[in-house]
Amino acid sequence: MPVISKETINDIQRQANIVDIVGQYVTLEKRGKNYFGLCPFHNDVNNPSFCVNEEKKIFTCFSCHKSGNVFTFIEERENVSFIEAVKIVSDKIGYELKLDIKQNTQYEAHYEALDLASRFYQNNLHSSDGKEAREYLKNRGINEDIIDEFAIGFAPKGTDTITKMLLNKDFDENVLLESGITNRGNSLYDTFRNRITFPIHNDKGRIVGFSARIYQKIDEAKYINTRETPIFKKGEILFNYHRAQGEARKNKYLLIVEGQLDAIRIYSVGIKNVVATMGTALTSDHINLLKKLNVKIVLCMDNDQAGEKASLANGEIIESAGIPLSILRISGAKDPDEYLLNNSVEAFKDAIDNAITFFDFKMNYLKKDKNLDKVDDVSRYINQVIAELNKNKDDVLINLTINRLSEEYGIDKNVLLNKIIKVDTGIIEPKKGEIKRRISKIDKYCEIILYYMLNDIKYIKLYEQELSYLPIDLYNEIANDILAFYIKYNYISIADFITYEIEGERYDDVLKVIDHMIDQELSDEEYIVLMGKMKSLIDEKKIEELKMKLKTVSDINEKLKITNEIARIKKKDVLE
Ligand code: GTP
Ligand code: MN
Repeated sequence: MPVISKETINDIQRQANIVDIVGQYVTLEKRGKNYFGLCPFHNDVNNPSFCVNEEKKIFTCFSCHKSGNVFTFIEERENVSFIEAVKIVSDKIGYELKLDIKQNTQYEAHYEALDLASRFYQNNLHSSDGKEAREYLKNRGINEDIIDEFAIGFAPKGTDTITKMLLNKDFDENVLLESGITNRGNSLYDTFRNRITFPIHNDKGRIVGFSARIYQKIDEAKYINTRETPIFKKGEILFNYHRAQGEARKNKYLLIVEGQLDAIRIYSVGIKNVVATMGTALTSDHINLLKKLNVKIVLCMDNDQAGEKASLANGEIIESAGIPLSILRISGAKDPDEYLLNNSVEAFKDAIDNAITFFDFKMNYLKKDKNLDKVDDVSRYINQVIAELNKNKDDVLINLTINRLSEEYGIDKNVLLNKIIKVDTGIIEPKKGEIKRRISKIDKYCEIILYYMLNDIKYIKLYEQELSYLPIDLYNEIANDILAFYIKYNYISIADFITYEIEGERYDDVLKVIDHMIDQELSDEEYIVLMGKMKSLIDEKKIEELKMKLKTVSDINEKLKITNEIARIKKKDVLE
């Protein structure tokens, strides 16, 4: 990694005029304090919802909720790393960087070796060595165009052909071992031998590994993938992501399938917004890749029990990340590849259009092992559906489902409604064209407090004196980060705080705090009132917890202690 201090980055940030720089990509028009334009991150045709605040040096889109500072704008627009974006901005404003920023040199040799290996495999497929493999691909309906586009190749049958070739080209032994091309036994040998190879790229389009398939009926693993290496981490990679991302943004959805051959098939019939998991469950790193696209996900796992389980597990992960999701279950074929070999593209597109909501998928799934003519099973079913509703908390969905259950099984609506846990959901009033974000009152207060803190150190100081704690862990951590920033640099700036958090796990949440409040006017009175409200909310929460505890203890002294504590908190609230 190039060494470039956060202080230097902040210095560049301060000197760069975000309106000038963003203005090179988006036509901006001044309206009040802010500049508005068509959002470059989603299809924003008639309602300019992209907003730049010159003074705060941040941007946000009221519609797709992408936010950030000048560097993250360039990062997204130019599809470069954060450090490269810093370099581009410093170039644009003529800032002289004292340190020479080189590309990520640490692994440059690894990337080169993988690139060469891939080209070697590609050529080898067309040699006599690859004849049978070529036949196999042909029989599977994988034509020359697809072979070229996906750089499909063939790993030689010999033990160390590719290793020797790369050593001859002066690659370091360690580079070959570290990039997973080579293994060490008694001597060095090729990881992939006598297999069809598929290069795997990272999100920037660089080859980071391979997946290699058998093509004969032999008793070996069907696929061998590159082992985990410093640049190949299965949990961070989605096959075909680098080709699919632009298409996904354009079509406003991304299709996720299980196998890379499924992705290849779907892509080659013209549905290019498709990626494959590498046979693993989705991870939080995958989720970050998905969030970056800001599109809906259509999950299409294989047509077997494992695929059904994977739909459920992956669906939960996607949904809990707040990404819109639907589920496609194909029928009449074991996977999308086979489906497309036997059905038209139109039929597949129709199936995509008719993908069902994740909730409906779960309802169907819950019905599966039950006989709904039996009272026991109906009761079990309904309780499971209610448990799902309690997770979801969407009023409209709750109402629709309760109506449906009530009609279908002749149960009184009120009985069902009583099983729904009441939640305190206020909705932040959306601006025109904005997607509604559901958020509880307590979350909302936390976000506003954080926003104030990000705008002026006097609000940080007040927070320290008056509250010093937020009752939701995530927000409390962000507040602590803000305090840490302030202690370290002795000032506060939203734009620099974004840089400060960029590699942290709370980054996306920080952006959310900013995104719908860019225009928020600050007033000391409001802040003080808000802190008061927050205090009583914290107390209410404490009282709730104490009441719960009261129910579980049986010791009379203990009970007394708890009731006294409740009384003390209540009294304090009255006095204040
Ligand atoms: P084909 O049989 O070639 O059509 O494979 P597929 O694309 O239908 O893949 P499948 O659904 O069988 O498996 C999904 C993914 O899991 C594959 O793309 C691989 O990444 C991975 N996978 C499958 N089999 C193996 C295996 O034997 N070993 C490893 N490591 N991964 C596998
Ligand atoms: Mn298959």
